[in-house]
Amino acid sequence: MRDDLKNLADIFYLRIVSPGNPINILWVRKTFREMDMVDENIEKFADLNAPLSREVWYYTFLRAFEDGKLDVYLNRIKEITGLPENPKIDEILESLHLRYLNGKFSQKIFRVVVLVSGRGTNLQALIDAVENGMLNVKLVAVISNKKRAYALERARSHGIPAIYIPAKKGEKRENYDKRLAKKIDEYTPDLIVLAGFLRILSPWFVKKYRNRIINIHPALLPSFAGLYGENVHKAVLEYGCKVSGCTVHFVDENIDHGPIIVQKCVEVRDTDTPETLAARVLEKEHEALVEAVKLISEGKIVIKDRRVLTKR
Ligand code: GAR
Repeated sequence: MRDDLKNLADIFYLRIVSPGNPINILWVRKTFREMDMVDENIEKFADLNAPLSREVWYYTFLRAFEDGKLDVYLNRIKEITGLPENPKIDEILESLHLRYLNGKFSQKIFRVVVLVSGRGTNLQALIDAVENGMLNVKLVAVISNKKRAYALERARSHGIPAIYIPAKKGEKRENYDKRLAKKIDEYTPDLIVLAGFLRILSPWFVKKYRNRIINIHPALLPSFAGLYGENVHKAVLEYGCKVSGCTVHFVDENIDHGPIIVQKCVEVRDTDTPETLAARVLEKEHEALVEAVKLISEGKIVIKDRRVLTKR
């Protein structure tokens, strides 16, 4: 079980084991039932009137967390225990994407800005995933460096602010990036997604949003880095690869280089043209991008050197 969740459970455990506290396994069962979570193990423990050991307590936190109801559970616990004072609590809540405001725990909605330059099918995959409840994030803005990017239309028609920021003639990269960052910061995002954004970002920008920018690339990195769109698929076919795919990765100072979050493969068929291969890869891109944003927004990953590991 992940440490932040354990630490949070520990903070409250000290309160519930104090004499006269009404929180016991029967209280937990009742609370879970009220939260529409009938858990087999909790039912069993309650039938046995088992003591609320630290392990059982951890388990209840894990179950509530997995069902996205940790905030509700904490509010119930807090009604009885009050909020324990602990200098680490804010940090722990932050890492679990929770917050405590006006006497209530709630889930912090994860804010995403998407940068685009083109048709925006990857953006659309994110919009769809949010609308069908797969992804619990808010797409707070879509920004394009191209006026006619169809992605802007897609954003507008779903009520997402759609912003066009053109580069000025001869403008230095960092200067554009500063204007871009100024706009981005108005939306206070937790994550910036490059979904077919056709500009290279300056080291200044990458540093400012370190580990908070991800990019989707239509090949299996580190192969075919530095290429864009159709050129990637052409190069894959010319090289004679038998598999290709897509990569979602964190952005660092080198092009198509940062730690890899999700990769998906497709086979290369003898009959493939760059167009047919691109279409098959694109389907995987949509899945991979949603998966990556979900993992990050749920606080489920850690970056260790070049490796992106899933928290357990
Ligand atoms: C996608 O295939 C994406 O992987 C690629 O641009 C396309 C955008 O499509 N990005 C790169 O090649 C970056 N190196 P979309 O506008 O339909 O999402």
